[in-house]
Amino acid sequence: MDKSELVISDLRAGYGSLDILNGIDLDVGKGEFVALMGPNGAGKSTLLKTLFGQTTIKSGSILWQGGNIAGLHPREILSRGVSYVPQGRCNFPLMTVDENLQVAAFTIADDKVLSDRDYVYELFPALQARRSTLAGNMSGGEQQLLEMAMAVLQRPKILLVDEPSVGLSPTAIGVVFEELQRIHANGHTILLVEQNTKKAMAVASRAIILRLGKVIWDGAPADITHDELGELFLTGRMAKEDASMP
Ligand SMILES: Nc1ncnc2c1ncn2[C@@H]1O[C@H](COP(=O)(O)OP(=O)(O)O)[C@@H](O)[C@H]1O
Ligand SMILES: [Mg+2]
Repeated sequence: MDKSELVISDLRAGYGSLDILNGIDLDVGKGEFVALMGPNGAGKSTLLKTLFGQTTIKSGSILWQGGNIAGLHPREILSRGVSYVPQGRCNFPLMTVDENLQVAAFTIADDKVLSDRDYVYELFPALQARRSTLAGNMSGGEQQLLEMAMAVLQRPKILLVDEPSVGLSPTAIGVVFEELQRIHANGHTILLVEQNTKKAMAVASRAIILRLGKVIWDGAPADITHDELGELFLTGRMAKEDASMP
């Protein structure tokens, strides 16, 4: 693994006075594909929102490429190479794919817009074929690809993606995951929140499990079985560990 680009230390954050993240320590290396998993309500979405400046930070730090981005404005965080794809679809349904990408390009210098759009179409061939289609007329899977494309247009160094497979057909989920792998292969670091643990474990280079606002497991997908993962989700512990305790 390359040197860590993102180093989160003792991060406590939430909504107003309500703490959801209870001391998160976690780091992500350049070029990693990290799957962040855990039961509902664990704080996965809250962690991504916090990285993107959308929650109340109580304490701790978020070092990104050596600078603390904790509490910065999302625009500033974006300009430092962090892009975020929130859960759900938030494209403009009455605009075409091409127009949606133009909107997403609003922060990009004029002379780079065309080359950056071409970059995105190269990465997302399925969207290129739909460039004149109204976003709202596309399938859920295609709309999810558009969400990711709008974020990738910013040429992020790290892409934060929240549950892109929710509500999609198995075929569409396959396409979304293929696309994530292609984005990763093109040099973007990925931090993916995903409920579809089988798919996530198959593509990620590292798995992190969150429960009750804390990291309870961090390792290679090969080092944990599906049953162990389920057990961790449910109880926060592994029976195997209990058995080995003196
Ligand atoms: N905007 C909000 N205001 C207050 N509480 C919230 C808000 N969003 C989420 N929560 C609470 O934060 C906790 C963690 O939620 P979330 O981060 O969405 O979990 P996950 O993504 O792991 O399912 C939950 O108890 C949820 O009810
Ligand atoms: Mg969530």
